Amino acid sequence: MDKRILQRAEPYLKNLKFTGRVLGRSMKKAAGLCAQGAENIIKDTITRAAGNDQSDSGDNSGSLTGEGRKNYAVITGASSGIGLEFARRLSLEGYPLILIARRRDRLEALRRELGTECLLLPADLARREDLIRLCEDLVGRRIDVFINNAGFGVSGPFMASEVSREVGMIDVNVTAQHVLFKYILHRMEAEGGGAILNVASSAGLFPAGPYMSGYYATKAYMTSLTRGVAEELRQAKSPVYVGCLCPGPVNTEFNDVANVSFALPGISPEECVDYALRMMARRQTVIIPGREIRAAVIGQRLLPTALTVRITAAQQKKKMSAPEQKPAAGAFHFE
Ligand SMILES: NC(=O)c1ccc[n+]([C@@H]2O[C@H](COP(=O)([O-])OP(=O)(O)OC[C@H]3O[C@@H](n4cnc5c(N)ncnc54)[C@H](OP(=O)(O)O)[C@@H]3O)[C@@H](O)[C@H]2O)c1
Repeated sequence: MDKRILQRAEPYLKNLKFTGRVLGRSMKKAAGLCAQGAENIIKDTITRAAGNDQSDSGDNSGSLTGEGRKNYAVITGASSGIGLEFARRLSLEGYPLILIARRRDRLEALRRELGTECLLLPADLARREDLIRLCEDLVGRRIDVFINNAGFGVSGPFMASEVSREVGMIDVNVTAQHVLFKYILHRMEAEGGGAILNVASSAGLFPAGPYMSGYYATKAYMTSLTRGVAEELRQAKSPVYVGCLCPGPVNTEFNDVANVSFALPGISPEECVDYALRMMARRQTVIIPGREIRAAVIGQRLLPTALTVRITAAQQKKKMSAPEQKPAAGAFHFE
């Protein structure tokens, strides 16, 4: 090599050596910090998985809305699964109920079963006119508890899933949940308090869910929204509690609707709702029922995001009824 070039490069090489040494030291320090962070997270995981995860809890009074006469508990998606179980539990706790879903016959059967005050407001929450009518029907009825639960999943490779079904899912899981959350929060702020639970999913706490990508995205929206609003309310010293429920698999009609079968054993709606009510009473913002899924949600934070997404993809593939379903390029119909 030309001597002059070497002479010219010398200061740069020296500089590079120095930068390398500094970088080496920084990397070592960063690795140490990572290891320390990982150790803390693992300790946290073990404590949480043991059932002590009350990190963001405030008031531990054990009651959703305090003592005294109870006003309405409003539940969307009350005709089945998690919503139906909330109706049973809140009715037992003495709340008059307002029950919402599309299947009126199911709501009527539930009202007969409970034998307590139940107002039925059947609505298709994917339809804007039903959503507006529902908000109007709720005017003048004092609400203590709102369980923002109605939702469903669509599975399959993104290229193969039906766009109109996905838009319907976004209308229910995102638009209706967002609108009702905001509307009832306004009402509760004006009326001096209340409790709102947005039913999201542990899916919303993972970076992505290949083969159920749209569903995961809708649930990530609701977890992010709830966390953000909860912090705003905390800073404003609001009397309203908001939280989001993030279950893993729960044995309901969800699977049939989404055309999947769980890769992990599901918990019962009773266990899910019992845990949710206890954590709501402790004002916890993110509620994850089930030890295994709690550990999985916290544990995945230790992994590189790309690896978590690959593992989630493998789990999702196991859940699909027709994993061999081939994406049909060019088959896009939207009306
Ligand atoms: N099961 C699970 O593993 C699981 C896990 C995490 C999160 N979640 C979430 O939990 C929530 C409840 O699901 P689930 O497991 O209880 O399932 P589910 O048994 O299928 O119940 C879904 C409820 O949502 C209602 N709903 C669906 N589309 C609606 C619409 N367009 N308008 C009004 N109501 C509608 C259904 O009532 P109608 O059909 O009568 O309208 C039903 O009452 C959902 O948000 C779901 O994403 C479930």
